[in-house]
Amino acid sequence: MASISRLRADAAECTRCELFRDATQTVFGEGPVHASIVMIGEQPGDKEDLDGRPFVGPAGHLLDRALDAAAIDRHALYLTNAVKHFKWKRGNGKVRLHQKPNREEVRACACWWQAELDAIKPSLVVLLGATAAQAVLGPQVRVTRDRGQVRAPTEVVPYETLVTVHPSAVLRTRPAERDAAFDALVRDLRIAAEHVER
Ligand code: URA
Repeated sequence: MASISRLRADAAECTRCELFRDATQTVFGEGPVHASIVMIGEQPGDKEDLDGRPFVGPAGHLLDRALDAAAIDRHALYLTNAVKHFKWKRGNGKVRLHQKPNREEVRACACWWQAELDAIKPSLVVLLGATAAQAVLGPQVRVTRDRGQVRAPTEVVPYETLVTVHPSAVLRTRPAERDAAFDALVRDLRIAAEHVER
């Protein structure tokens, strides 16, 4: 089994789909190799693409606040994404607009998160949003229906998993409902934390 540093070096050269062409760099996962929780998001955003680290832009800042509220230390987590290159299209001026990765791109990238999980063997995998949840658990998963429950390992996914919303979904929520959406994310994260502390 490959080490995380070997995987990171190999992923830096990844050309398994076309997304590497327009991205600045591969954004691999980061965190302790013995983390008990791995969190998987969708894909790096503009800031992550430039910095080369996951969850350092606006969604990452919201995630940091939610982790604080759930008393989870970000530095104890291994944070990664289902897709390791930023997919974007040009907006007005210099703005790079996030594009959702398609099924083939998600599938092409699966070998990386699978290898990350095999290297880390976490107690729990937290899936942030539909792209990560469906990449790992299959297309039948629905975030709003299935969130906040610890799911048993299966033959395909030999780890316990918990689905919750993506932090950017909280950012997109109408202002009047945003606090409630944030609190619901924190509730799910607390379930994750309490589960691994048991
Ligand atoms: N959104 C994600 O899913 N991952 C990141 O790293 C940043 C934003």
